[in-house]
Amino acid sequence: MAKKMWGGRFKEEIDPDFWQFSGSLDCDKVLLEYDIKGSIAHVKMLSKCNIIPKKEAASIEKALSAMLKDYQQGKLKIDPNAEDVHTAVLIALSKRIGKQADYLHTARSRNDLVVLDLKMYCKDNLKSIIVLLTKLQVALAGFAKKYIDVVMPGYTHTQHAVPILVSHQILAYVNMLDRDKQRLESAYERVDEMPLGSCAMAGTGLAIDREYVAKLLGFSKVSANSIDAVASRDFVIEILSTLSILAMHMSRICQDLIFYSCSDLGFLDIAENYCTGSSIMPQKKNPDSLELIRATAAKIYADLISVLVMMKGLPISYNRDMQFDKKPLFNSIKDTSYCLKILAGIFKTIKVNREKIESALASDDTIYAVDIADYLVRKGIPFHQAHNLVGRIISYAENKKKKLSELSINELKKFTKIFAEDIFKVFNAKRSVMLKKSMGSTNPLLVRQQIAKWEKKLRA
Ligand code: ARG
Repeated sequence: MAKKMWGGRFKEEIDPDFWQFSGSLDCDKVLLEYDIKGSIAHVKMLSKCNIIPKKEAASIEKALSAMLKDYQQGKLKIDPNAEDVHTAVLIALSKRIGKQADYLHTARSRNDLVVLDLKMYCKDNLKSIIVLLTKLQVALAGFAKKYIDVVMPGYTHTQHAVPILVSHQILAYVNMLDRDKQRLESAYERVDEMPLGSCAMAGTGLAIDREYVAKLLGFSKVSANSIDAVASRDFVIEILSTLSILAMHMSRICQDLIFYSCSDLGFLDIAENYCTGSSIMPQKKNPDSLELIRATAAKIYADLISVLVMMKGLPISYNRDMQFDKKPLFNSIKDTSYCLKILAGIFKTIKVNREKIESALASDDTIYAVDIADYLVRKGIPFHQAHNLVGRIISYAENKKKKLSELSINELKKFTKIFAEDIFKVFNAKRSVMLKKSMGSTNPLLVRQQIAKWEKKLRA
C-alpha cells in the first residue's frame, strides 16, 4: 500500500477491498500534468507570501518543474498504488527531495485541488473541442461549396417534400454546430474560476494570495465562495449537457448520411477509409463509422445522467461521491473528440452521386406539388384552395397511373382554367430552388452568400 495523505489518527489498517475500490489513480491520472502545474503555481505563491521557507519552496518548485518535464517526455514514474493523482504527485516529489516536499500541501486540500485540476483540464479540452468543431464546420462549408449546384429531394418524415440544394442542408449542420460552439464557449466562462485556497471548504487562516495563483495559471478570476468552489460540479454537468446536444447533432447528421448513402438511394458514397466489411458478405461496405458516431450520443447522455444523478441531493459541501464525476467527463471528452475528427474526415472524402439524385428527383414529380400551388397563388388563388386543387390533381394522376408532368393541359384545366402551358416549367428542380425568395431559403444565391459568410467567419 502506498503512502497516504492522511492516517495519523487511524489505528487500524484500511480494508484492502475498500482501498482498491476507493482509489482513483487509474482514472484521475489524466490530471497529472494539471496537478503538477497547479502545484508549481501554489508553491510560488506560498513562497512569495512567506508562508513556507524560500529555500524549501525553491527546491519544491525545481523538482516539480523537472517532474513536469519528465511527464511531457513520457518518463515520469508514478507509484501505481497511490490513492489518487494528488497523492501520486506528492509521493513522486518526496522521492526526489525528501521531507522538504511536505511543505507543498500547505493552505490547500484535495477538495479544492481536485477542482483546480479538473477546471484546468476542462479549459484545455474545451479549447481543443472548439478547434475540432470549427474544423468540422470548415469541412462542411468546403463540401457545401464544392457541390453548390446539386439539387436533391428534401425530406420531411423521410418522405419527399420539396427540392433543396444539398449545400443548404449542409449549412443547416453548420448552423446547428455553431450553436454548440457558442454553448461550449459560454461554459468555458463559468469554468474559468480559480478554486485553490478554498481548502476543505472554509478557506485558510494563512495569508495566501489566490489572485496571484489565478494569474500564474491563466484563470481570469478566483472563485468567490469557498464552499461553492469545493461543492459544485455544475461546470462538469454543463459541459456534459453541451456535449450531449453536440452528440445529438452529430448523431442526426450521421443518420442523414447513412440514409443518403443506403443501397437504394446511393446519393452519397462514403469513402472506404470510413467503412468496414462483413465477415460473411464479401460485397459489403458498411458505414460503421457513422453508426458508431450515431451511437456515441447514447454514451454521452449516459455520462451526463450519471453525473446529474450522482450530484442529486448531495449535501453541501464536498462529498466523496463527487469522485465519480471524472470518468464520465473524460470519456465524453474523448468520444466527442474522436467523433468530431472522424466526421470531418468523412465530409472531406464523401462523394456525391449526381445521377442517383437526379433520377430520384425524376422518379417523383409530386415533389413539385408546392411549386404548383405557389403557381396558382401567384395567379390569385388563395393558398388553401390551391393546396386542395393540387391534392385532387395528384389523386387524379394516381388513378390514371400518370405522373403529374404527364397530364395534358386540358386535363389540368378541368381543375381550374387558370392553368396555362407555362405550368410545365414547374417540373424542374433547379428552377424550383431558384424561385425561392425568402431569407434563409434554399435559393442558390442566398446559399452562396451563406457559404461566403461562413467561410469568412470560420477563417477568423
Ligand atoms: N479523489 C477525490 C475526488 O476525485 C479527491 C480526494 C478528496 N478526498 C477526500 N477524502 N476529501 O473527488
